[in-house]
Amino acid sequence: MTTKDNLIENAKTVLNSNFDEDKGFTIPCEGLYPFQWNWDSGFIAIGFAHYDTDKAKREIEALLSAQWENGFIPHIIFHNDSDTYFPGPDFHLSKLHPLASKSHRTTGMTQPPVLGFVLKELYEIVEDKTDILNFIKANIDKVYHNHEHFYTHRDPNQEGLAFIYHNWESGTDNSPIWDDIWDTMNPPNYKFERRDTTHVDASQRPTNREYDYYLHLIEIAKEHHYDDAKIAELSPFLVQDPLFNAMLIKSNAALIALYEIIGDAADKISQLKQWQTKAIARFNEKLFNEKLGAYVHYDLRNEKQIEHISSSSFSPLFADIPDEARANTLVETMKTKFGSENRYLCASFDPDSDRFNPKKYWRGPVWINLNWLLYKGLKSYGFYDLSNRVKDDSITLIEKYGFYEYFDSRKEVTENAGYGGNNFSWSAALLIDFLKS
Ligand code: DGY
Repeated sequence: MTTKDNLIENAKTVLNSNFDEDKGFTIPCEGLYPFQWNWDSGFIAIGFAHYDTDKAKREIEALLSAQWENGFIPHIIFHNDSDTYFPGPDFHLSKLHPLASKSHRTTGMTQPPVLGFVLKELYEIVEDKTDILNFIKANIDKVYHNHEHFYTHRDPNQEGLAFIYHNWESGTDNSPIWDDIWDTMNPPNYKFERRDTTHVDASQRPTNREYDYYLHLIEIAKEHHYDDAKIAELSPFLVQDPLFNAMLIKSNAALIALYEIIGDAADKISQLKQWQTKAIARFNEKLFNEKLGAYVHYDLRNEKQIEHISSSSFSPLFADIPDEARANTLVETMKTKFGSENRYLCASFDPDSDRFNPKKYWRGPVWINLNWLLYKGLKSYGFYDLSNRVKDDSITLIEKYGFYEYFDSRKEVTENAGYGGNNFSWSAALLIDFLKS
């Protein structure tokens, strides 16, 4: 067997053993994340699509089975009980929202909306087009409904950009970006028992004080029964995130393309195109920072850009958001700030910043899902050298260290440079896609 075949076989083993046959979903990793996570499931389905279409479909169906009546798709679905994770279903109490799923306990927050473009990836990967198109037909309106929810309830100024109200909605949970917002808050010191640090070294996870902020934001949302309008009015965390909105825009484009293949959805296509035009224009106006040469987060509560560069800053390439000149600027920024010869691409936070931490979750390490988005985006603009470097670095890191959750970007660290959870599902799933594409 070649090294490549071997890696693919190992990746399949990781995915298959994290898949729950009974309930039809995949945990991100044992112990640390024992339930179904929203954007994890999207990336996981892409991996399955290469060798087990049935599992790919079941993964998406399991996620959508917990969709709320208003179109909202939660970030965690508690299909099962587990005492290895905090905060669990009794803390989140999704039933406080009148339209929450009646069949599943979930969180009351979401995650980057990847499902639209995931459906399109499945369409492209799976060989039996009739079969996969039937699956897409059965599910696409649910994803459309989800986008409708964002544009109706998460965009108070009707500008085409959705807000997030919690760092866990961003997917980049403890990014140093949020430090600026934590500075505006002073939550109580909650009493709670962390479970994540029983699985992973605390130096690689958020601090207890950071958990106070995370819990406090949930308490505020709970107090208002997870009502989006109240959250928009009152949450101290209200952010227009470039990664989150790039995922939404990419998913809009995918829904348009899929509805065009399916036919008979002129109204939905026209609505999606309207959202799309407005969103892309506003994204470019509001989220680009000329001085930094990159897209940044916008703090909607305090009406200002958050001036830091992270790997999220480059994700708009994946959604065809920048024009060519701006794409060139972004690539220059990526090369100068993140791309030195002694680093793997792409660190999750600006390596020159004093907030950079090469081991700590989203404060510096390389993540395979972000690399996958960047690889695709760079390639689509014709930056082949850089896109190949991102792909090769991703494969090298997994080959050297294993299917970890995140990795050290410093090449001088040559041992134990994989951090967080091991046998991590999306690292396995996206490795399969890297090696097959
Ligand atoms: C965690 O608990 O750190 C999860 O990533 C939240 O989504």
